[in-house]
Amino acid sequence: MTPAAAPTLPGVERIIVTGGTVLDGTADVPGAKNSVLKLMAASLLAEGRTVLEGVPTIVDVRIMAELLRRLGAEVEHDAASRTCVVDVPAEVGHRADYELVRAMRASISVLGPLTARLGRADVAVPGGDAIGSRGLDLHVEGLRAMGAEVHVDHGYLVTQAPPGGLHGADVHLAFPSVGATENLLMAATLADGRTTLQGVAREPEIDDLVDLLVAMGAQVGGRGTSRLVVDGVRRLGAVRHTVVPDRVVAGTWAYAAAVTGGRVHVRGGRLEHLGMVADKLRAAGAEVDAVADGFVVRGPRRPRAVDVATLPYPGFPTDLQPFALALAALADGSGVLTENLFEARFRFAHELERLGADLVVDGSHVLVRGRPSLSGAPVEASDIRAGAALVVAGLRAEGTTEVHGVAHVDRGYEDVVASLRGLGADVRRDVAAVPDERLGGVLG
Ligand code: EPU
Repeated sequence: MTPAAAPTLPGVERIIVTGGTVLDGTADVPGAKNSVLKLMAASLLAEGRTVLEGVPTIVDVRIMAELLRRLGAEVEHDAASRTCVVDVPAEVGHRADYELVRAMRASISVLGPLTARLGRADVAVPGGDAIGSRGLDLHVEGLRAMGAEVHVDHGYLVTQAPPGGLHGADVHLAFPSVGATENLLMAATLADGRTTLQGVAREPEIDDLVDLLVAMGAQVGGRGTSRLVVDGVRRLGAVRHTVVPDRVVAGTWAYAAAVTGGRVHVRGGRLEHLGMVADKLRAAGAEVDAVADGFVVRGPRRPRAVDVATLPYPGFPTDLQPFALALAALADGSGVLTENLFEARFRFAHELERLGADLVVDGSHVLVRGRPSLSGAPVEASDIRAGAALVVAGLRAEGTTEVHGVAHVDRGYEDVVASLRGLGADVRRDVAAVPDERLGGVLG
């Protein structure tokens, strides 16, 4: 039985999923959010027009565009052609305001380019981060090794390069941080001399950034490995570049197929970037096959339980962990999920419990005992991937699932409702327009 609809505040947006359809069709994959944001930041390294193709129409791209505008660039994003032009003037500003950094942590990726090009940057410290403990210590240590002075002033991370600009350095990252690798790589392209970055992240989005930088004239060796060698150059030039397809969006459609026992053609997805994900889907009983323009996933009628542990690339991506958890909740048997990157990601597990999942969270592990189906309920997204995974879980829940916190989903997905409807899902988005009288006590 479907529970009574939750009392909903007027004006609150939600995604409403009615479970039970078996997905069938094609879903497209645009350029990767986690690449394009850094490519836009990298455009600051050169004066002129950087043209990016395959740019998704998502809120985070709008935030980065606004950040670049405030630094003096002109930014035009044409959603229809998925082209974004960033025109960077000779003189750019050096301050990234808290208002934007708070909205999107990836704003921190202007730190490296600004310090390299201008010799200084003031970038608001994202909430919850403290230098020296977690969050930005690797970015800071690397920039210091390259000669920058770095301190926090009134909530801003302030960098100052030496008079001659940053210089090359040998940097060992204690952990393969994606963001630190990108910032230090961008900074090193304009530094004086050779920078060796060891223990770096190897995500496909890093390779994409290397490709852009090399096209701009940077000297970077070791692409795809954990050791990047960068010989600084005096200046870089603006170029045209196509963004690598989004492996997390591709993985989202793959899990949607697996969860519903359906068949989805993931058009534009690159299976070679999802090696561990494909292995885990196959172990759960799905068929995953490469085709000329992407790959096809056929879900099992009932998934088998598999254990999944997230790790830096090429390990299982933390961004797909909530989807793996949703599939495990429906499996025949018990599985253990281990989150090694972001502890807060298990907030999603508790929302999944609201859909009837049988699980126990213990530190960075979740033990899940699979059930044949879930039961629809109102749930709340705590981040981009949690939101999308709740929608996917709702596809296999009896009755109706209302996903709140939709704004999170819009940060990373172009139009998750349209994509899933194209696969036959019964899903819609609405705004609760009518004040609900049951809310009287809450509002008063
Ligand atoms: N960390 C530190 N010190 C640092 C940097 C990172 O302790 O100086 C820690 C972080 O606190 C975290 C872990 O290392 O616990 C991983 O952080 P990393 O720097 O690798 O991640 P990120 O650059 O902040 C990017 C993606 C995330 C994705 C992670 C891991 C972007 C904009 N974000 O974040 O994507 O989960 O890499 O792959 O590229 C998402 O798209 O929903 C998302 C969260």
